[in-house]
Amino acid sequence: MTDFSTFSKLCLLTVTCCIQACSSSSSSSSSSSSSSSSSSSRCPAVECWLVQDHAARRGATTQEKSLLHISTDANSRDAASEQIPSDIDPDRIFFVTDPAATLCHHSLSPPTGGSVQKAQCEISPFLHQPSTLQWVAPLTDSGFSPVYLQADWFSAALLGLNKQLVISSIMRAPTATKESNVILSVSSETVSVQARLGEPVLLDCGFWVDPSSPLSGSGFAVEWRYQFRGKGRLVLAYDGKTDRVADSQEEGATLDFEGLHQKGNASLILQETEVRHSGTYICTVHLPYLQAQVAMELEIVEPPSLSLHPSPLPLAVPGQTLVVQCEASGFAPLSLELSWEFKGADGKSRALESASVTGHRQAWDGTYGQSSLLELDTSTLGMGGELTCVAVHPGGTRRASTSLSVIGFGSPSIEDSMAMVGVALVLYGLIKFVSWTISSSGTDVADKVEKKEK
Ligand SMILES: *[C@@H]1O[C@H](CO)[C@@H](O)[C@H](O)[C@H]1NC(C)=O
Repeated sequence: MTDFSTFSKLCLLTVTCCIQACSSSSSSSSSSSSSSSSSSSRCPAVECWLVQDHAARRGATTQEKSLLHISTDANSRDAASEQIPSDIDPDRIFFVTDPAATLCHHSLSPPTGGSVQKAQCEISPFLHQPSTLQWVAPLTDSGFSPVYLQADWFSAALLGLNKQLVISSIMRAPTATKESNVILSVSSETVSVQARLGEPVLLDCGFWVDPSSPLSGSGFAVEWRYQFRGKGRLVLAYDGKTDRVADSQEEGATLDFEGLHQKGNASLILQETEVRHSGTYICTVHLPYLQAQVAMELEIVEPPSLSLHPSPLPLAVPGQTLVVQCEASGFAPLSLELSWEFKGADGKSRALESASVTGHRQAWDGTYGQSSLLELDTSTLGMGGELTCVAVHPGGTRRASTSLSVIGFGSPSIEDSMAMVGVALVLYGLIKFVSWTISSSGTDVADKVEKKEK
């Protein structure tokens, strides 16, 4: 630490202060500010699993309890005062200096009040190597001294409580010490995002590079990849050194390039969400020889639109069976429950069971459609009432209603009365005519009536 120039110390301090100020303004309950009683540079320790592959033991993987003591300033560290829990091997205690305070986020603090939920953390040895990706390759041209790389490198992956935050950090510890410095951190606060169809959506990804590291001035690259059910594609790749976006950029996906260079804001902006955007997004930040990545989930959730057929419903007579269709369309994901309700004149609702659901179909835009066919036995429905189709979907519940009239039951409706008056008039006319023909000619009545009708 003695060869640290005053200038880089200053840089470091400035960055620390800036980031602490930013993080404490965005979340007032930040632990880095709340636990400042003893020392402002200390953050709560994070319990972690040390995961190691042992090539010598045929690739067996071990997982051991470890602890990360985190500080934002290496000089203020007082190792003696840091307690070492009895159940953790002192060899697996890491003293981490993280000037950006990314690892001080409150969602990584040990739970209080007997909560069983914990943040998740895994640390493992990291193998640095020049990137093989073609568009990243120019980064590793810079021939800096490999002495810097000759150290113990670790990568840590952390997930905050309630998925508030995901972090991936690359740390460097001078060989055979456990005093490691964060060199690169990539983090996201949008671990799991839901969005409606057609909306713009932001997938958060920020990174920080230790400004005192010789790797920091040599450029960076950002890559966003999409994965869904084993299939993947490149969404966007940007080389910060040459300021070039790879040709295979997906339409409607963009970065805020100014924020990227100035603040390490590598957030992906999808201008208009489509169903096919649902899946896992991986934000990878490349430095020469190092890279770190975080993954997040995006789910497009769009509730269905409902329509009823036939609409309006025809008049029914008691005992008649009506077939009514409820069509749900334009929804995603494919998770829908269709049911029917009937509200009679007494105002009480009840479920109707006699429905069958059709198979689903997918529209050009990736949304789904599905129908329910109801066979309605009108004899059980009194004079009628309100028929409702209910669609329960992760995006919300939707209802469509129509009114049903059953004629000839109980007191007649206006339509019924008019029909009856019509029938009565026709009958009256017929009787009049028949009685007139009988009295005038006295011949065969039936013949005459037939002729008249022809
Ligand atoms: C990153 O950039 C996006 C797009 O400009 C912005 O909406 C977002 O707030 C920025 N995030 C941070 C942490 O500054």
